[in-house]
Amino acid sequence: MAAAVKADGYGHGLQWVARTLKADAFAVACIEEALILRAAGVTRPILLLEGVFEAAELPLCADHGLEIAVHHPEQARMLETARLERPLRVWLKMDTGMHRLGLEPEATPAIFRRVRDSVVATPNIGLMSHLARADERDCDDTLRQLRVFENAINGLPGERSLANSAGILGWPQTHFDWVRPGIMLYGASPFVDSLAADEGLRPVMTFHTRLISIKRLQRGEPIGYGGTWICPEDMDVGVAAVGYGDGYPRHAPSGTPVLVNGRETPLVGRVSMDMITLDLRQHPEARIGDPVVLWGEGLPVERIAQAAGTISYTLLCGITARVKAEITQIPHPGREEGL
Ligand SMILES: Cc1ncc(COP(=O)(O)O)c(C=O)c1O
Repeated sequence: MAAAVKADGYGHGLQWVARTLKADAFAVACIEEALILRAAGVTRPILLLEGVFEAAELPLCADHGLEIAVHHPEQARMLETARLERPLRVWLKMDTGMHRLGLEPEATPAIFRRVRDSVVATPNIGLMSHLARADERDCDDTLRQLRVFENAINGLPGERSLANSAGILGWPQTHFDWVRPGIMLYGASPFVDSLAADEGLRPVMTFHTRLISIKRLQRGEPIGYGGTWICPEDMDVGVAAVGYGDGYPRHAPSGTPVLVNGRETPLVGRVSMDMITLDLRQHPEARIGDPVVLWGEGLPVERIAQAAGTISYTLLCGITARVKAEITQIPHPGREEGL
């Protein structure tokens, strides 16, 4: 398993995630992320999913033992002209239908030979591709991509890798030698139509804050910037200390659920940089200082993503630097050190 830990471990903290996960390898988006892992003492294989962005990165990859994707003939050319102290492990990344990165399937055998014959690649060249629509359980594109992948790699030696989280959970035929889970490791569902709990997953992150004000407002009074929500009756409105400056989505509309003292409450009015406002009509017991959960334990991040018209990935990755991480290790029998 190559654990996708890019984007600061999907917003959970790259080093903590790498220390905590018992993965065979780690997958990141760029060399900067890989070097942070190496500096933190991670000795396991690290794969750059997009390979190098320029030839100057190749010696650094060699020095730090990084594995690289080659998704474009230009990257093969960089390898052919490079002089490196140590050879690198290369993964040929094919475009099997996502049409973002990847070698043309028909061009793969020729690129394979060029990379193999370059002196800077180790002999164990890997073969990989990425799924575009595995999160849609009844979409045939995944099977089409699988067929294109199998045809392209037919006759080529090397380990194979295709599945992301949705492939792992929904499409066992895509597992091959290496799976590359991301979102599922953080306890969120990769599917468009399910919650984490439906997949047997538990949230790693709980995003929480506190009530910092409760005010009695009169019927007809508007709340927040733009006055987009008007009190329909005399009522208590709570203010929680969190906003888009912390990564709470500004476009979360009135009605988006939050938990106050563990019970659901709708957000009302616009999200501001540092605060959100809450309808406390069903919470007469609420007091300043009470805990407010934005997502995580008790409130699936998928629900907030759906309310805000986005996906759980953006919410998890979007937590900003000023949010303090409190790490509570859940005892896990048999866990080994993840480095
Ligand atoms: C090439 C590649 N493999 C695996 C993953 C992990 O995907 P997911 O988080 O959906 O499991 C990603 C993430 O975007 C990716 O780009």
